Amino acid sequence: MKKNILYLLAFMILVSCGDDIPQGEKDNAFWLDQADLTAMQQDWSAAHANLSCDSNKLSIAGKSYDRGVGTHAVSKLMIDVHGSGERFKGAAGVDDECSEQASVEFFILGDEEILWQSGLMKVGYSAKSFDINISGIQKLALYVSDGGDYIHYDHADWVNVRITYHDSVPVLVHPYKARPYVLTPPPPKEPRINGPSVYGAGAGNQFLYRIPATGEKPIKFKVKGLPEGLNIYEESGLIRGKTPANGIYELSLIAENDYGKDEKKFRIIVGQGLALTPPMGWNSWNCWGLSVDQQKVKIAARAMEAIGLADHGWSYLNIDDGWEAAERTETGFLLANEKFPNMQQLATDIHNMGLKLGIYSSPGPTTCGGYLGSWEHELIDARTWAMWGIDYVKYDWCSYNDIAKDQSLPELKKPYIHFHEVLGQVDRDIVYSMCQYGRGDVWTWGEEVGGNLWRTTYDIVDTWSSMSGIGFRQGEYAAYAGPGHWNDPDMLVVGKVGWGPDLRESRLTPDEQYTHISLWALLSAPLLLGCDLAQMDAFTLNLLTNDEVLAVNQDALGKQATKVYDGIRYQVWAKELEDGSMAVGIFNIGKDTPIEAFNWTNDEQKLKITVGADQLGLTGIHKVRDLWRQQDIGTFEKTFGANVPHHGVVLLKLTPEE
Ligand code: GLA
Repeated sequence: MKKNILYLLAFMILVSCGDDIPQGEKDNAFWLDQADLTAMQQDWSAAHANLSCDSNKLSIAGKSYDRGVGTHAVSKLMIDVHGSGERFKGAAGVDDECSEQASVEFFILGDEEILWQSGLMKVGYSAKSFDINISGIQKLALYVSDGGDYIHYDHADWVNVRITYHDSVPVLVHPYKARPYVLTPPPPKEPRINGPSVYGAGAGNQFLYRIPATGEKPIKFKVKGLPEGLNIYEESGLIRGKTPANGIYELSLIAENDYGKDEKKFRIIVGQGLALTPPMGWNSWNCWGLSVDQQKVKIAARAMEAIGLADHGWSYLNIDDGWEAAERTETGFLLANEKFPNMQQLATDIHNMGLKLGIYSSPGPTTCGGYLGSWEHELIDARTWAMWGIDYVKYDWCSYNDIAKDQSLPELKKPYIHFHEVLGQVDRDIVYSMCQYGRGDVWTWGEEVGGNLWRTTYDIVDTWSSMSGIGFRQGEYAAYAGPGHWNDPDMLVVGKVGWGPDLRESRLTPDEQYTHISLWALLSAPLLLGCDLAQMDAFTLNLLTNDEVLAVNQDALGKQATKVYDGIRYQVWAKELEDGSMAVGIFNIGKDTPIEAFNWTNDEQKLKITVGADQLGLTGIHKVRDLWRQQDIGTFEKTFGANVPHHGVVLLKLTPEE
């Protein structure tokens, strides 16, 4: 009887501890938590040994674990076991620190075969154990998918993970790092006027436009047809003054230097709204997060000018969250905190460079970063910003959930309608950027409530799954974009980013960065740099100063690209341009499978993609121009073939031959 109870007890322990380390585990096991986890790639944060993604004790379905690795989907790790492994053991599950939105799937691959997969796992699901025979296998890979939805809260734990082996110690493989390569040729010495051909402004308000132009300096600027009230500053190319009455003003911009002259038609449209082409500039969030301060904004403005970004049309410097004082004044004013000693001076300095200043707030009592929002102080805030000289407001949603009665459309629209009315009461051109992450299909009503742009998505991060997941989803909203009202797939994640005081290189590969900029250009998306402009490397600068690519984004027709071919391995997007030509992006998206994710060593392999005239709805002969290389590369009649790198793009302009 006693013996039976003992057996039963032993059995119970074995069953309940399926994911525990059995007694007598071999000493020469290779423990994942002791390895160099910088080899683990993940879409948010970094892998932690023996701690969860948020640095808590590892815990799955109420059970805590001393050993393991806390990661975040999408997560990838490759281990070289040299054919010398015996067994791969451990368990996996979603960490208890997650919200209910978390959903992931764990995969273990051996030499490109799936050896084990967990099935969809959510918070509260017990850890699933694995004990796999890996004899003869060379490379093991651990992969955590986002479970088919977004990566929100996908904190995934690998617990008690170890490999038993014969001779050679397993080694973690650091991902292949592709080298950046430059495609954009340098601009010529003779002047070239860049930027849009249309510009919107409000009658009677202050007018400021800097003519963006490249070419050997000094350049002299002139304008033909300048309406009364506006002046051109010959040396700097700034047009300033008081905006004339409602109407359309046809101008000719002229830039001249020792090497030649350029002339460009330019229309000022007064009284038909702002942001007639997508805003281009910088925002502090993706680099500095809440650590933004006045000096950093000033440095960004100086860099925008000094490294030449302003000559290609980049103009806004937008302060995101983190500028607000802790309390309003007795009369209700919200001043800037000690990090911004003189907002008005900052605006003046920025305007004197011909650049623009933006700010951030939320309709709720507090912002997403926990600072004061504009709740019940909308008009006083708008007036303060107009007085400071603010040109752009990003209006978030955070904490408004506590104010809204429910998530019905009238409740979702209410704070944005109100703030639009308030903006109408100040005598200043302020671009209105709505940021409520796409709630209630905002693209269907963003224009109606007065938004110049509206975020269609949660926050972007600098990974392929985030950037491509957001970007390639935007086709559905194309019909709602147009001059003065744009879909906003969030800010750019190239260059040095960090969301806080410490910055690092974007994790996107060079080809992924070409895809990012090409796709955002095709999507007529606002282009807001989220990197430190003062630390920009040559590759990133080259990527952001291709005037032919930027012209696709700034095209006056304002038509967002649509997806014309959707395949497993590639997609083709097309955007009609004002001059009757078409911009076409041919994207090699790779397959979204765990196996494809381990394509690290052959990043440079190209995929031959053929596009047909029927897919693009084209007839006749078209001249083909490669926009990144700025080269004519032949003609297109029935089909066009392109070799496209993994996660990369070929961006073309097809112009009908006369
Ligand atoms: C939200 C927005 C971000 C940023 C932060 C600031 O998350 O989506 O872009 O503005 O708030 O707290």
